[in-house]
Amino acid sequence: MASAVFRRGKTSLKCSTGRQIGRGVAGDVYETCCNSTCRYVTKVVHRNLQAAVREAQLQQAAARAGLAPHIVYSKCGAGCIIVMERVDTTLDAYLSSKLTLTTVQQNKILDALEKLARLRIDHGDVHAGNIGIDLRPWRVRVIDFSEAKRVAKVDVRAQLAKLVGDLRHRFPQSRFHVFEKALKTYDLKRETCDDEGVFVAAARTLVPESVADDDTLLNMWMDMNDTRDCRKVVAKVAAKLMKRRLPART
Ligand SMILES: Nc1ncnc2c1ncn2[C@@H]1O[C@H](COP(=O)(O)OP(=O)(O)O)[C@@H](O)[C@H]1O
Ligand SMILES: [Mg+2]
Repeated sequence: MASAVFRRGKTSLKCSTGRQIGRGVAGDVYETCCNSTCRYVTKVVHRNLQAAVREAQLQQAAARAGLAPHIVYSKCGAGCIIVMERVDTTLDAYLSSKLTLTTVQQNKILDALEKLARLRIDHGDVHAGNIGIDLRPWRVRVIDFSEAKRVAKVDVRAQLAKLVGDLRHRFPQSRFHVFEKALKTYDLKRETCDDEGVFVAAARTLVPESVADDDTLLNMWMDMNDTRDCRKVVAKVAAKLMKRRLPART
């Protein structure tokens, strides 16, 4: 257990870090108590200074809009640390025990992605492990802004396609009706098929699960990993798969 006192203007924050609760590409995350309240985590960021500063700035902008945990302290020296509010769980952990999301919960996730887009923040790594969830009341607080960027326009449906691809892969027994409906209007014109999530999401709108399960689609994607227009690639794949399963004519 490491302790430190952080100065924030005139106030000071006495924090102690405990058990490690997360390990990712960009950082290690530890349970943290600050001024005797244990509702925080410390993320030790293993990236260059500029990337860590951008991560903290974009997360704080999202936090101000109620979309991410507030950062209570961040500092870059030899390494960078970010002390932030703790979320109760993440979407992947939540689904591992509940296996289902209500309509309201799915709408809350969609809503959070849309609001982030309105702030012109492209999160850059939307998957179930980066969707933080508070349980009471049930609300979404997106975490891990390590790949985030400010952009002119965020394509929410492309993010949703990636999230749905991730969810279908990890929770094939679950259904996400709200997400599916949003994806039906998904505009694939500008997407190439070199992204697993986009490919599976696009294929699912044409190929029913009785014809090819997610693993079959993923294997096909790994074999081709195509950088051409995704609509055309998926249409060909779908035609091939559907033909294979058509009953023989008598
Ligand atoms: N604010 C938080 N509250 C609770 N757990 C968190 C929080 N931030 C991160 N974690 C945990 O740590 C893991 C890794 O953190 P993350 O920010 O996603 O780092 P990486 O960039 O390395 O993926 C998350 O998947 C989650 O389990
Ligand atoms: Mg992460």
